[in-house]
Amino acid sequence: MKTIIEPFRIKVVEPIRMTTGAEREQILAEAGFNLFLIRAEDVLIDLLTDSGTGAMSSLQWAGIMRGDELYAGAKSWYVLRDKVREITGFEHVLPTHQGRASERILFELVGGKGKVVPNNSHFDTTRANIEHTGAKAVDLVIEEGRQPTSRYPFKGNMDLTKLEGLIKEVGPQNIPLVMVTVTNNSGGGQPVSLENLRAVRKLCDRYKLPFFLDACRFAENAWFIKQREPGQQDRSVREIVREMFTLADGATISAKKDGLVNIGGLLLLRDAGLVRRADELLILTEGFITYGGLAGRDLEAMAQGFEEVVHEDYLQYRIRSTAYLGEKLLAAGIQIVEPPGGHAIYIDAKHFAPHIPPQRFPGQALVVGLYRHAGIRAAEIGSVMFGQGTPPPMELVRLAIPRRVYTQSHVDYVVEAIIEVFGQRDRLRPLEIVAEPPTLRHFTARFREL
Ligand code: F0G
Repeated sequence: MKTIIEPFRIKVVEPIRMTTGAEREQILAEAGFNLFLIRAEDVLIDLLTDSGTGAMSSLQWAGIMRGDELYAGAKSWYVLRDKVREITGFEHVLPTHQGRASERILFELVGGKGKVVPNNSHFDTTRANIEHTGAKAVDLVIEEGRQPTSRYPFKGNMDLTKLEGLIKEVGPQNIPLVMVTVTNNSGGGQPVSLENLRAVRKLCDRYKLPFFLDACRFAENAWFIKQREPGQQDRSVREIVREMFTLADGATISAKKDGLVNIGGLLLLRDAGLVRRADELLILTEGFITYGGLAGRDLEAMAQGFEEVVHEDYLQYRIRSTAYLGEKLLAAGIQIVEPPGGHAIYIDAKHFAPHIPPQRFPGQALVVGLYRHAGIRAAEIGSVMFGQGTPPPMELVRLAIPRRVYTQSHVDYVVEAIIEVFGQRDRLRPLEIVAEPPTLRHFTARFREL
């Protein structure tokens, strides 16, 4: 069959509501044209993030009822630990409330002034947690990963020459670990090949460096490997996932992505000394080592989520439905980061609104235009988000797809709306910032339309 369907029936529904054009004008003005500052109930289709916004399955909800809420050694903890051991092969599993809590613990232990952490592309919380310790975060994605129109199949790959160059330049003693983010969120949700992960492992061995994964979207990455990497077609996603984790000495995971839950995270480690120190920090700020700031029911939902996310009918549907959105936009002449990523489509806003210069925020203008026209919420990833540091090479708008939430007709509506906005793109209005905080301004800055 040609049509790839949603591999589930819908048992519970949550109504969404369309606002009028006049209401949206008022909402935009009151929020200072910042979509982070509007109420979710005023959004028709919310593509702000794929993080924690997914729908849980009936078995996950059953797990919520089964959750064991006793303080230490709860049954639910062992269910989660055993599932994570089965999927990843990691013996030491630390639960946390979300990805950045894992990052905070890890980099408090290995970061510090004078240290340098390479990654293909650091996600902003990873970078912030590294820099918070005084260390430096360096992005070393391959050149193809910076070109929106390159169709290279693994645009998330680490540039091995640059990585070795950096190790030699700053000295291996100043690199506490090498990290690779799968898939590469900041670079368009692009995957990393198994070949590249193996090569990073080898390089780390040569310089005796630990190798960590930021594995938020590990299953989506494994699906791309199965589809695109020569020699991987006959392996199961489970096997590929296992190999990805086996190559690493540790991993930080936000379970709000491929854990298919609304809250939760993990820190996976091999080094027993590091585990002991991480346990101490976990107890200090997250919670005891068998719940890490989560309720027992959250642990159950996570365990079931990690099981369901490696199901291949789910992954086929997931990756195909993201590509479907991307292909429709491309066919209408709208430039996106190609090929479509796993969890999101990134529109090239410079191409979409060439009449708006970066300092007038073309990405934000498009985000505002999409909400104004159709009640859709997307996220700017360009000069608003990064403009307080080095100006970004690309002005992007991310349409992140929540897992198992929207149907194909929702996506068709989104496509139609974007094409209509594209048809009248000269009406998108440049913006000026009227108030901003000193850091991470995209969350709270207020704008004025020019
Ligand atoms: N690493 C990556 C690659 C991420 O995409 C995120 C979150 C994190 C770490 C942090 O995890 O939110 O659970 O603390 N990304 C979300 C997003 C917020 O919208 O892309 P967290």
